[in-house]
Amino acid sequence: MKIQFVLVIITLLFLTVTCSKDEEKPVYDSTLFNLKLNGDLPDPTIPADNILTNAKVKLGRMLFYEKKLSKDLTQSCADCHIQKDAFTDIRPFSIGVEKLEGKRNAMPIFNLVYHTNGFFWDGRAPLLRDQALKPIQDALEMNETLPNMVSKLQSDKKYKDQFIRAFGSDSVSSLKVSLALEQFMMTIVSHDSKYDKYLKGEVSFSPEELRGKDLFFSEPDPVNNIKGAECFHCHSGYNFTNNEFLNNGLDEEVNFKDLGRFNVSQNVTDKAKFKVPSLRNIALTSPYMHDSRFKTLDEVINHYNSNVKMSSTTSDLLLHNLSGLNLNNQDTKDLIAFLITLNDFTYLNNPEYKNPF
Ligand code: HEC
Ligand code: HEC
Repeated sequence: MKIQFVLVIITLLFLTVTCSKDEEKPVYDSTLFNLKLNGDLPDPTIPADNILTNAKVKLGRMLFYEKKLSKDLTQSCADCHIQKDAFTDIRPFSIGVEKLEGKRNAMPIFNLVYHTNGFFWDGRAPLLRDQALKPIQDALEMNETLPNMVSKLQSDKKYKDQFIRAFGSDSVSSLKVSLALEQFMMTIVSHDSKYDKYLKGEVSFSPEELRGKDLFFSEPDPVNNIKGAECFHCHSGYNFTNNEFLNNGLDEEVNFKDLGRFNVSQNVTDKAKFKVPSLRNIALTSPYMHDSRFKTLDEVINHYNSNVKMSSTTSDLLLHNLSGLNLNNQDTKDLIAFLITLNDFTYLNNPEYKNPF
């Protein structure tokens, strides 16, 4: 008798639990996402047709870490964009699902919401949502078709539920996937480096860091015996980029291998021009340049100091560099000390960007 009674109670309890679970049906949630920014950063322009909501950002984050986006379920975006490495790949060339090597160095992900010159080294994706679907279909990366990706997500209950919360319907589409990925990537920001704190007067710089900063932001003035490293002409503003495509003199014309922006514009004046990258977190994203040719910041500075090559598209802003900047070992050390102040540990450890699974 007693045992039967206990069994009835257990069954009742079980039913209540399963019923209340059923009642938690996902519902559309349009709560706006609060993008927290350092007061010194300008307000970003969020695309009017993709206003940030909590549910869409969460969906984008799930998708960013989702191996189902790849052909054989082995690779997610996060396998080549690793948070602790400023969301880049420290391998010179990433390896895709077919074990094939890519052709360019992976790019870090932060402050993309401020980019105005498109995405990828050559800017071939005008919007972040266009960019987001390319690695999925790239034969050297995730090598999956969009219809296959959609059907894998469509048959996964957690995605059906999250698509309802984000878009009000459980029907998955590649457009919705791209919009959600765009949202998550727009929320990844880096603005809490030592340099940002220095600008706000919260920390002070060492003499080395100060000298490095001065070199970074000055032009050489040989008449008055003033040194300058000229970096600020191109790596300018809060994001350390002028948002242009330029040729920073890596090669002479005969040695152009990757034509960069030219492949997109077909304009001969764009040959071997690449997106001017941000220098935030730069000490963490070795190797450097689109083709990973430099391993260290020493090598990078050595290039700008005395190795800039002339070609029909080398930027005019490198005029001083062509005759040499005369930076010595101490100058190089100072510049590197300054570049290290651009590391942002708040961003690198931000729990909101981590794997949600
Ligand atoms: C196999 C490695 C690999 C995978 C997987 C991968 N990426 Fe990338 N990512 C790269 C490489 C390499 C580049 C630079 C390619 C180029 O410019 O041609 C890049 C560039 C980017 C950029 C451009 C950043 C900028 O500043 O212009 C974004 C954004 C990005 N990836 C997001 C993603 C997303 C989202 C996914 C998943 C859907 C993803 N990546 C999957 C390697 C990868
Ligand atoms: C004429 C514009 C220009 C100037 C001046 C300039 N850069 Fe660059 N920088 C670029 C461009 C363009 C690239 C990308 C080139 C490529 O990959 O082909 C780049 C790439 C870099 C990279 C590698 C970034 C990465 O993610 O791989 C570093 C580091 C860098 N520059 C530091 C500096 C420093 C330090 C100075 C000053 C000594 C400087 N730059 C001056 C345009 C410039």
